[in-house]
Amino acid sequence: MLPKGQILGQPLTALAPMQDVTDLAFMRVVAHYGAPDYFFTEFFRVHASSRPEKHILRSIVENDTGRPIFAQLIGEDIPQLARTVRELRAHPIAGIDLNLGCPAPKVYKKNVGGGLLRDPQRIDEILAALREVCGTGLFTVKMRIGFDDAAPFEAVLDSVNRHAADLLSVHGRTVREGYRGEVHYDLIARAVARAACPVLANGNVTSAARARAVLAETGAAGVMIGRHAIRNPWIFTQCRAAFAGQAAAPVSLAQVRDYIERLYEATRSADFPERAHVNKMKKYLNFVGQSVAPDGAFLYEMRRSTSAAELFAVCDAHLLAEPDKPYADEPYPGVIARPNSEGCQAPLVH
Ligand SMILES: Cc1cc2nc3c(=O)[nH]c(=O)nc-3n(C[C@H](O)[C@H](O)[C@H](O)COP(=O)(O)O)c2cc1C
Repeated sequence: MLPKGQILGQPLTALAPMQDVTDLAFMRVVAHYGAPDYFFTEFFRVHASSRPEKHILRSIVENDTGRPIFAQLIGEDIPQLARTVRELRAHPIAGIDLNLGCPAPKVYKKNVGGGLLRDPQRIDEILAALREVCGTGLFTVKMRIGFDDAAPFEAVLDSVNRHAADLLSVHGRTVREGYRGEVHYDLIARAVARAACPVLANGNVTSAARARAVLAETGAAGVMIGRHAIRNPWIFTQCRAAFAGQAAAPVSLAQVRDYIERLYEATRSADFPERAHVNKMKKYLNFVGQSVAPDGAFLYEMRRSTSAAELFAVCDAHLLAEPDKPYADEPYPGVIARPNSEGCQAPLVH
């Protein structure tokens, strides 16, 4: 049985796994503003000499958000995947999730993540093995709709059914489509119709209003939200209000300033120099900035800051000049995060 959502009868919400973003610190910050029903870890890399990465394990072992967390794996070596599942099941995970979507060339060239979508037969073997090793424990899949096109989609959905996955998250783009452009919600709807398990709709769920629209269009059991939870960590609370037919309290620019400071403190570490930490903050602020200034001025200025003082001066200028002004629900058109911050891009180091 899947863990229950926080409000019975409402669609589910999940924070999408995001490498170098959804660590323990980030999950705690999101939970402060209103936790999703489910968390997913960044992917654990699985290969012959891999061991579950310690910093990712922390997001499981020290997770005090009160919400279930699924451990995501990326790999294709069945004995190593089975070994890793056994290791991870010694920890308090809700289940095991398999990554069938990562579009980074260094990843898919190894035939893992999104690369596996070129080989539905291999996916079938992997799902069979994972189902067996997970036993009665939960086993979930996160996939894109295909590699070059959606040709393998239905075969993979049939494998998901054959091996009785407990939950399926579908990012409605191919690997080639990366992170931009239209999301094929019609194919997510097809997954909902074909899959025996609940489906989470993923891709460009930018706001609570969009969550409702995507749920109506796809019939999915819930939504999985990634980049827009970085931009707007209130989004899960806003979704719950919207699902209950209520209006959520608007978020002010001053609250966004507080969020940035909370994130800065949460992600701080003694062995991390200030300059490096400021650069790390830019990764999150790339997304936050999409709703701060319609002309992109916040993004332009924050990217040039080289110290915490400079960074917060930019924040103050944009967020505290009119502190009560509402933070935009949607990203401003044309204000985009840098492509290299839209990750799942780090090389797999073997
Ligand atoms: C920075 C970043 C890192 C990501 N890392 C992962 C990952 O580790 N595993 C995974 O399955 N997807 C990963 N993704 C993809 C997201 O989980 C999600 O499918 C995608 O961003 C689309 O959802 P969104 O429009 O809500 O962001 C990543 C995305 C981003 C932007």
